[in-house]
Amino acid sequence: MTGQQHPKGPLERTLMIIKPDAVGRGLIGEILHRVELDGFLIIAMKMVKMTEAQAKGFYRMHRKKPFYKALVKFMLSGRSIVCVLERENAIESLRQLVGKTNPKLAAFGTIRHDYAADIRHNCVHASDSPETAQREVHFFFKESALARIHHRIKRIYSMPFARR
Ligand code: CMP
Repeated sequence: MTGQQHPKGPLERTLMIIKPDAVGRGLIGEILHRVELDGFLIIAMKMVKMTEAQAKGFYRMHRKKPFYKALVKFMLSGRSIVCVLERENAIESLRQLVGKTNPKLAAFGTIRHDYAADIRHNCVHASDSPETAQREVHFFFKESALARIHHRIKRIYSMPFARR
């Protein structure tokens, strides 16, 4: 987290995963488009085929839940896109954009409402608190690499042709 203050809330980073169902259905561009239109900067991004250890480790807080085994299997079923996103109030803003975990309960116009098939195949993951965001960002990206990228990205986004 950067800790900078801003009228719209603190400048924060969060982690989003575009899950194997969305990648397989060709929704990467659509989801990233919505994220950018909502004012997020994509600070870092990579395509990963998670290992079993990664999927189990990432979701370890759910290890006692009945859906854990199937969730891990689903995350191993294809490639995911993991990205670090930044904007003011990023954690809560991304959760609003993504919608509730269960797409049947997600608000109209949210990513999960519009695209997710069911509660497991729900297209995206978004960190749910500052502590979780910190852990999840660093699960996939080293802070030293993020700091280097961040410097370059900020310079590009501040160029005259940038939308922001
Ligand atoms: P996500 O936001 O990635 O966090 C944990 C994931 O577990 C969640 O999205 C869903 O994909 C999955 N999940 C949560 N609750 C259930 C459930 N009741 N049944 C099946 N999968 C679930």
